[in-house]
Amino acid sequence: MILPINIYSDDILRKKAKPLKGIDSGTEELILFMFETMRNAAGIGLAAPQVGHSVRLLVLDLSGVSNYPDEKPMVVINPHILALKGYNDMEEGCLSLPGVRGDVERPAVITLKYRNERFEEMIAEFSGMYARVLQHEIDHLNGVLFVDRMEKRDRRKIQKELDVFVSGTVNAAYPIARQSLTVLEG
Ligand code: NI
Repeated sequence: MILPINIYSDDILRKKAKPLKGIDSGTEELILFMFETMRNAAGIGLAAPQVGHSVRLLVLDLSGVSNYPDEKPMVVINPHILALKGYNDMEEGCLSLPGVRGDVERPAVITLKYRNERFEEMIAEFSGMYARVLQHEIDHLNGVLFVDRMEKRDRRKIQKELDVFVSGTVNAAYPIARQSLTVLEG
């Protein structure tokens, strides 16, 4: 099932999400729907608050990214970043801000403790696109969006695009949650 995606101005994107205590059939279903929703929107990462569930769960799939063709989809639950190394700049986008892109500086390498799709505890180091997408999605669990991390000067340049989300006229190639559609529909 393809779930509608919450947009920039939706309150749930600003809340701190709650840890999961385990995995039940409802969680398994949510994970399946999140993968379907992410692929339908041609995304490479999706956090549960983006589809209306304020829990610390995210999915990612880099197999569509060049240089990452053989990657397997990944489920990350209750992530904690244990260590950070280096910095790099990369352009980011977000399914909750359709059409908006911007440069963000983030640590280049992270050591992450998390639980996988079987709720087993994992500790692993991630670099490259993995480090980038994981940090972007973990931000979603803490109510942070990538535009919050942009340089003020760059952010001012896209402020008009952000204002459009608030006014309610959202154009996206995938279903959007109703909360955003205060002005225009269909
Ligand atoms: Ni995002």
